Parts: sequence; C-alpha cells; structure tokens
Amino acid sequence: MYKSKFVNIYLIFFLTFTLTESLNILAVMPHVGKSHQLVFEPLFRKLALNGHKVTLITRYPQKDPVPNWRDVNVAPVSLNSTEIFTFNDLTGTRLDRYTCVALLTVAARESCKDGLSHPNYQNFLKEDNHFDLILIEIFNTPCFMGVVKRFNNAPVIGLASSIWMPWMYQWFGTDSNPSYITNHFLGHSDQMTFLDRVENTLVHIFTNVWYNILLDRQGKQFSEEMTGINLDDNGDIMSNISVLLINSHFTINVKQAMSPNSIEIGGIHVENQPIKPLPQDLQKFVDESKHGVIYMSLGSTIRGDSFPEDKKQALLKAFSRLPQRVIWKWEGEMQDKPDNVMIYRWAPQRDLLCHPNVKVFITHTGLLGTIETVDCGTPALMLPLFGDQFTNAASMEQNGGGLVLYISDITDEVVYEKLKKLLSPQFRDSAIELSNRFKDRPLSPMNTALYWIDYVSRHKGAHFMKIASVDMPLYKFYLLDVIAFIFLIILINLYVFYLVVKFIFRKLFKRQEKIKKS
Ligand SMILES: *[C@@H]1O[C@H](CO)[C@@H](O)[C@H](O)[C@H]1NC(C)=O
Ligand SMILES: *[C@@H]1O[C@H](CO)[C@@H](O)[C@H](O)[C@H]1NC(C)=O
Repeated sequence: MYKSKFVNIYLIFFLTFTLTESLNILAVMPHVGKSHQLVFEPLFRKLALNGHKVTLITRYPQKDPVPNWRDVNVAPVSLNSTEIFTFNDLTGTRLDRYTCVALLTVAARESCKDGLSHPNYQNFLKEDNHFDLILIEIFNTPCFMGVVKRFNNAPVIGLASSIWMPWMYQWFGTDSNPSYITNHFLGHSDQMTFLDRVENTLVHIFTNVWYNILLDRQGKQFSEEMTGINLDDNGDIMSNISVLLINSHFTINVKQAMSPNSIEIGGIHVENQPIKPLPQDLQKFVDESKHGVIYMSLGSTIRGDSFPEDKKQALLKAFSRLPQRVIWKWEGEMQDKPDNVMIYRWAPQRDLLCHPNVKVFITHTGLLGTIETVDCGTPALMLPLFGDQFTNAASMEQNGGGLVLYISDITDEVVYEKLKKLLSPQFRDSAIELSNRFKDRPLSPMNTALYWIDYVSRHKGAHFMKIASVDMPLYKFYLLDVIAFIFLIILINLYVFYLVVKFIFRKLFKRQEKIKKS
C-alpha cells in the first residue's frame, strides 16, 4: 500500500533552533469560499500550538475552542451552505474563463460588505491591540488591508490559497511574462501555440486592468466607507508585503521564476494529517469492491446534483460498462443509476483518495482536491469548471497526474476510454511518480511556512528581500525609456549617415558637372 507522509526528521531539527518568543499574530481570511481557509488552518493551528497567540478574522469560526486562538466571526447570519453555485451559473463554454473575474468581483463585494460592516469586526477595530505579525489572504479582497494601517504597519505575510492571480505579480516581482506564464483563468499548459499566446497576453492585460480599475477601487471604497481607513495614505501597502506563502508547487503547477519572497508551500493542508477510517457504509462499499472504486466529486462550492442531465446520463452509461464501483458526491436523489454507483452527500475526500482500493478521482480540479489526489498517488479525470481549475488541470495532465475532459466534450464513449486509460497500471505508476516528486523537499511545506514566518519576525519585516521591480513604474520595468533612447540614437545615426552620403554624392556630382562644363 502506498503511504503518504512527509519526512519528519526536519521537525525535530526545526524545533531545536526556533524557540523564539511568542508572537501576537493576526490572521485574516475573508473570502466567501471555505476552501481558502482550509489550506491555512493547519498553519494557524500549528502556530497556536507552538505558543503564539492567533486571532483569526473569518467567516468559518472553529467548531471547538483551540488554546491560544480567538475567532472574530464575520459570517453573515444567513450563511447555511457552502454550495453557492449551480451548473446553471456556468455556460460550459470558453466564456466562463473570461467572465470569471466578474464573478470574483461579485464575491469580493460580498466578502467586503459582510465582513467590514459586521459588528464583531467593527468592535475588533476599536480594541486596543498590538500585533507582531499580520497574515492576510491575497486574492480578491484588498478592502481588508486596512487592518495593516489600523495596527501600526506590523509586517505582513500574504497567504494565497490558489495559484498566482494575474494581478499578484506586481507586488512580488515574480515573473509574469505571458509568453510562458499561463493566465490563472485560461487553462493553457506552458507549451503555447501562437494563438494561445495571443489569448494569454490579451487576458493577462485585461485581468490586470480589471483588477486595477474595478476590484482595487471597489476595495478602497469599501474600506473608506465602512471603516474610515484610507488605503492610499502613506504609501502602497500591497508592495510592502514581506513574504507570500502560496499554495502551489513546481511539480504540479506552472514552473515560474519566483522572487526570493515568493514561497511555495503547496501540500501544507495534507501534511501529517492522519488518514482516518471511513464511515461504516462507505468503508464496506470500498473494502468489498473487487476491482476498485472511482470517486467523483466536483467540490464544495457547486451543487453536484445540478449537473447537466444529458452529461449525467453519459457518465452513468460509461460507469455501467466498468467493473469498478463508483461513489458520486450528490446531494439529492438520483433516478435510474446503475447498481455499481453509490451517491453520497459528503464523503471524507482525502481518506477516500488515499484508500488503496480507490483507483481514480473524478474532480473539478480545485487546488485542494488536486493536491490531495497527488499526495495519495491517485490518477485524476479532470472536469474543470471555473477559476484556476482549467490551468490546474492542464498542468496536472502535463505532469502525468491525470487526463482533462471538458464538460462540454463529455460523451459516454470518451468517458469510458479516458477512465480505461486512467485505470491502467501505467497511469497508476505515473501518478505515484508524480506523488513522490511532489513530496521530495528539503523542508516540508509546514516547516517552510513556519521558517519564513519566523524569518520575517526575526528580521523586522525582511524588506531587504524585495525585488526592485516592485517599486518601478511600468515604463521603467518594460524598459520603454531605454528602448525609446536606443531607437532615437539609431534614428540620429541613420540621419547623420544620410547627410554624409548626400554630401558626398553632391560633391561628386558637382565635380562631374565641372569636368563636363570645362
Ligand atoms: C438559511 O436558512 C434559513 C432558515 O433555515 C433560511 O430562512 C435562509 O433563507 C437560508 N439562507 C440561505 C442563504 O440559504
Ligand atoms: C512597510 O512595512 C514596515 C514594517 O514591516 C513598516 O514599518 C512601513 O511603515 C511599511 N511601509 C509602508 C509604505 O506601508
């Protein structure tokens, strides 16, 4: 059986050299989707366990109290379910990739309005607190950056639970060249054709302009209106962030040239998390499967049972031709499903994926599920829906972790063929190889995060790490002035050359005329 575990030896090493004083840490996770917090919760817990004081501004407070931990709950009262989308919200076409940034703007509005106006948040701002460090989500909610001003410019560590948003590069100086860095929303691999690069470049520019004139402005307005904090006072907070902890890893995501303060910690949410036994009915279903199990879940933000009917029938038809059993995350009833299919409201995903009988994961390729399936070495059939999922899927396919299938391309034949391939021993080996590459690190993701948090605290913000490009105006960064200067020199030279040639010709001509005349 394949076991998932990060090597622990570093932990011992680590504990012996970082017993610093206890820090008072403020963490801010305002996004409406719960998965963003789930990435960093183990880190917050570890910090609290190590004796630091953690205050978390959150829509998803802890169910049980944790020592050294305080939640500032900013959830609206009407928050009942994580499944905020249905398939009717998506067109299932390429359009979804261009309009995603609009969805994010709407989501940001909700996070900002609910959070900033919440009485708990308003009271929190009035409290007389001092924080040594601020850990804050960097995604679509700059409206919350006011806490940095409110709490005396404590050093800031950015937390990103997904791959690079197009607008994040400007604050860290990590390379964003659209010739090979694929846009968050598009779903290209890093091997792009000419037309891919045209699309990638245009969308890169479009999403950056969108951020700067809509999302950013909206955030500043909310901050001013609801908390009275002007984010433009005394310099730019965003380009003063000390370190970014990002939930990616070069073995499964796009490989890019990172600035020294961009730190990859992908895998932090699964590291050292024990694999628990399944609920009884599931355990029986999985244990007794002779040919293994396919697990299908399209994530926590979309209602599984809103899946388009014709595509559902195609999937069921393909499943009925396979000897494997299938578990499908589905909320309601399902009519006329084959005998080998079991529907389940909410299965413990990671425990299932690491079960040796689970052979394939059918996923929307959210980054958490992707990391979980890579961690367990389980091949994936990837049906991306929105956000970074197209790009996650393309990178995964390129790295041998699975196969992509767009929902619009689903037919029973294609699903059957792809599943057959994924069920083969060769694909299993490829997924396990990827898993080994993913886990082979000098320092585990958790210890990497703890190390850099400590580093920022030790070096009072560690601003010496910042790359010079972060503070440059665009014309300097793209060398427009230099290019213009060189171009001007060339022009002047050409002109001088032209004058000289003209002068020589004229002389020659005049001499010839003189000779003729005489
Ligand atoms: C949450 O549940 C309450 C009562 O069960 C209901 O009135 C409310 O509309 C629900 N809110 C949402 C957003 O579904
Ligand atoms: C940048 O952060 C440091 C602390 O890490 C703070 O002293 C400084 O005032 C900040 N500068 C701006 C422009 O926010």
